[in-house]
Amino acid sequence: MALLLKEAPKFARINCFRLLKRPKEFLGGNRRWELVSSRSFQDGHKRDRDVGEWKKNFHSVSRFPRFLYSTSVRSVLDAQDIFETRHIGSGKEADIQAMLQALKLNTVDELIDETVPAKIRSKTSLGIGPAMTESEALKYIKNLAEKNELYQNHIGMGYYGTLVPTVIQRNILENPAWYTQYTPYQAEVSQGRLESLLNYQTMVADLTGLPIAGASLLDEATAAAEAMAMCYSLSKHKKKKFLVSDACHPQTIAVLKTRAEGFGVEIVVGDVHSFDWKQAQGNVCGILLQYPTTYGIIENYDRVISEAHESGAKVIMSCDLLSLTMLKPPGELNADFAVGSTQRFGVPMGYGGPHAAFFATKDEYKRLMPGRIIGVSKDSQGKPAFRMALQTREQHIRRDKATSNICTAQALLANMSAMYGIYHGPDGLKKIASRIHDLARVFQKAVQDMGYETSAPESFFDTVRVTCPHSKEAFESLLKRLQDSKINVRVLKNEQSLCVSFDETHTRTELSSLIQCFAEKNSVQVDCQKILESLPVPSAIQVRTSPFMTHPIFHSYRSEHELLRYMHRLQSKDVSLVHSMIPLGSCTMKLNATSEMIPISWPEFALAHPFAPTQQMKGYLQMFEELSEALVKITKLNKVSLQPNSGAQGEYTGLMAIREYHKSRNQGHRNVCIIPVSAHGTNPASAAMCGMRVVVVGCDDKGNINVKELEEKAEQYKDQLAALMVTYPSTHGVFEDGILDVIEIIHSRGGQVYMDGANMNAQVGICSPGDIGADVCHLNLHKTFCIPHGGGGPGMGPIAVASHLAPFLPSHPVIPPINVDPKHSLGAVAAAPYGSSSILPISYMYIKMMGDEGLTKATKIAILNANYMAQRLSSGYSILYRGKHGRVAHEFIIDLRPLKAVSGVTEADVAKRLQDYGFHSPTMSFPVAGTLMVEPTESESKAELDRFCDALLMIREEIRDIENGKMDKENNPLKNAPHTADVVSSDNWSRPYSRQLAAYPAEWSRAFKFWPSVSRIDDAYGDKNLVCTCPPMESYMEAEQRVA
Ligand SMILES: Cc1ncc(COP(=O)(O)O)c(C=O)c1O
Repeated sequence: MALLLKEAPKFARINCFRLLKRPKEFLGGNRRWELVSSRSFQDGHKRDRDVGEWKKNFHSVSRFPRFLYSTSVRSVLDAQDIFETRHIGSGKEADIQAMLQALKLNTVDELIDETVPAKIRSKTSLGIGPAMTESEALKYIKNLAEKNELYQNHIGMGYYGTLVPTVIQRNILENPAWYTQYTPYQAEVSQGRLESLLNYQTMVADLTGLPIAGASLLDEATAAAEAMAMCYSLSKHKKKKFLVSDACHPQTIAVLKTRAEGFGVEIVVGDVHSFDWKQAQGNVCGILLQYPTTYGIIENYDRVISEAHESGAKVIMSCDLLSLTMLKPPGELNADFAVGSTQRFGVPMGYGGPHAAFFATKDEYKRLMPGRIIGVSKDSQGKPAFRMALQTREQHIRRDKATSNICTAQALLANMSAMYGIYHGPDGLKKIASRIHDLARVFQKAVQDMGYETSAPESFFDTVRVTCPHSKEAFESLLKRLQDSKINVRVLKNEQSLCVSFDETHTRTELSSLIQCFAEKNSVQVDCQKILESLPVPSAIQVRTSPFMTHPIFHSYRSEHELLRYMHRLQSKDVSLVHSMIPLGSCTMKLNATSEMIPISWPEFALAHPFAPTQQMKGYLQMFEELSEALVKITKLNKVSLQPNSGAQGEYTGLMAIREYHKSRNQGHRNVCIIPVSAHGTNPASAAMCGMRVVVVGCDDKGNINVKELEEKAEQYKDQLAALMVTYPSTHGVFEDGILDVIEIIHSRGGQVYMDGANMNAQVGICSPGDIGADVCHLNLHKTFCIPHGGGGPGMGPIAVASHLAPFLPSHPVIPPINVDPKHSLGAVAAAPYGSSSILPISYMYIKMMGDEGLTKATKIAILNANYMAQRLSSGYSILYRGKHGRVAHEFIIDLRPLKAVSGVTEADVAKRLQDYGFHSPTMSFPVAGTLMVEPTESESKAELDRFCDALLMIREEIRDIENGKMDKENNPLKNAPHTADVVSSDNWSRPYSRQLAAYPAEWSRAFKFWPSVSRIDDAYGDKNLVCTCPPMESYMEAEQRVA
């Protein structure tokens, strides 16, 4: 033993000596310890080999436990709830060894050497520090959370307190079966969330009085900007002015200004009632009205709307959805678009987000709508089935002709809001709205009686504007009293005025304390009930008379039991990460760990208003600083903006920063953006939104950027070159060897390099955008950094920039983000200063719990897993692209085109057949049509990777049966997939294969069977017969009868 220990690497020796001295204590009773990993991963494969050799001998002679944990610094006295081993599913030494063996390699670092070009490898470690255990990190972040102070909130401005029904909080927001779902592209295994999103659309359409609503956008301000872009597009880009009411929320105006800049549209902000339409000479493409205004006033817009229409402008109303239960809806006012936020429908403010924005419009504009629309179609058995409609219309798929780049939206939050609508129903919503209105009315009367000037009682819904007619000192002392009572209101700059908003969370006691503050002498007794009884019935100027939410769905689930079961029924129709791996290339469906998720429900993070004074938000600010610092270290860039709330939004922000940079150097004419053909559709769409001209370069037959063509195009456009957008490793799943040349070609011609960080999971700790030479990149925190996909959002897309771009990072008109100088800033890109702040704790926790070593190891294992799967699958399929040494990056593409040629089987058939095996398909036909792109991530165990490979290889044999003529070309398990319980148990089974093969194709499907709830959905039918709101119940009954 002594001899053996002498030969052992130093860290292992230390452990073994400890172990020999106090084996019981060191081993922690029966606890098992694991050898190697982190250290050996970092110090190169020489150490790995040493450890491997030493370990073999050690195990052969010793009777000590086979597994020793390598982190030599951790003693038994330290907490042992180490996260890395939970997050990395295939990190066990035995699994790693087995995978390496399959790849004929000795160490993981050998694989990395063969995969990642040496010239871009990081020379130093990340510098983030050691990992915290789960309990340590939770304690640490709790401490941060407690630094946020929650005041009684009356700020308003588009964000309101809401009582999240706990049944929804626990069973949707905090339920991995809802939050780990992917965007419902595979509709047959997504019927639950599709139904819920259809409910959302129906609720929004009903409340706004417009026939078509989408399934959510990012926030109210960006939804308004999307509507503006549509108005511009509808004017065929001819009308260059857009009118914005000065009574819109300031964040909305700011986001519109930024967005208009890219399109070359002029924003005119002013009093819409006195706008001179004649003078504008039909040059205005649209107008944005806030309803009620940012100051709470319900204005009568009848005249403005007809004047706008007469002059050929479209009308957008940015609305408070709850107020529409009482007010005449935009559709009845003849508006063309209604946008806004559904935040106060049961989604916490979360210091700015995430919440679902809504977008509704007239039928004639549906094909230009941004974002996703859920529609009703039918399946191959004629049953109604839901799917995402008009997908080829999806804006970013229009690439450089796009006016929007929206991809990830806010599905999870839309689902929460829809359930809130179902929970309360129209009557419940009306009650909530009228109670809020009454709170506001009592307040208004009370302070009016004290001598304050206020908005007229019939002119507001929930927000009262109050002016202090007394001296400046009196106003200051009112503010002081509010501050002392820990009450936040909106203080209007340069005026002695306030706006005071009410919401459903406010209590009678809170109302009294608020009113008390307005009394000069604090001792005034206010009887709210008495005031209320003294008030006249509210005037009926704009009162809604039309019914809404009449569909039975909004009337059927009032008891908690009923709603709980409804939500559970929906969730059971969907595949999510609680069932099986979701190997979606380019999407990084990794573990969304519970310890990462827990803090987002804490009130200190969830309930903060985004415009609360920053002194009250010390915890959040510290977290932003620390998270930004970590992202700077990971990207090796200089500065981070946390504002963009999706990857595509990050692209847009990064390109706008580049645009500002060129302008600052008198190079504003640079507007050409080179983009490889393999890029995600959001890349060209974002470039188009920044007013850039897209120039496409091709790829060679290995999937690499065609460097020769790139050089020619860069040279051709050298005087106009603004940027290159490049994804690295490429969307083809390869670390391109020529990346440094590519970057040099662009830089030497005055262009900037934008790196799409969607594939950052293959870079963290082993190379970085900064070292490679990128000037800016976005980070999809909902991919690499563990924010769950939520069935199509939320996400976060912060950008990291090199120092020369730092001055241009986004600002905000209400709360300037930390370390941003508004002087050169590109403006605001999202409604809240830090985007969807309340989900940032997820990424923060991930980084804290992984530390330097864990993050780096995760990357390496992600690459190992992908290579292992590619190796196994290559026995049945062709892998489309590989790097110089035959290795793939963290994902790879299976080419199904050769199989289609001989068997007629398509990528869609394989995708649907996988559902019978209990799996979600890999990414279909991106970036190459006729292929599947697999990305396993580091979080899956080897057993799960094998199970997925087994499924695909079994499917390969099914295809072979078709090729060989053993199975019919049309009537086979692939073409008929997926098989529902209905179909398999039907009395009429006439298919040329068994029911067993249909439903239980693999052994494991007997132990755990996921039943798709509908058969293959007819896409074309759904698009031809577009129905985007809940169909009447009879249509389900008729279909049932047909099937029976
Ligand atoms: C390569 C790539 N770039 C950009 C995006 C857009 O990111 P987001 O959906 O967060 O807007 C995606 C989304 O999947 C992607 O795969």
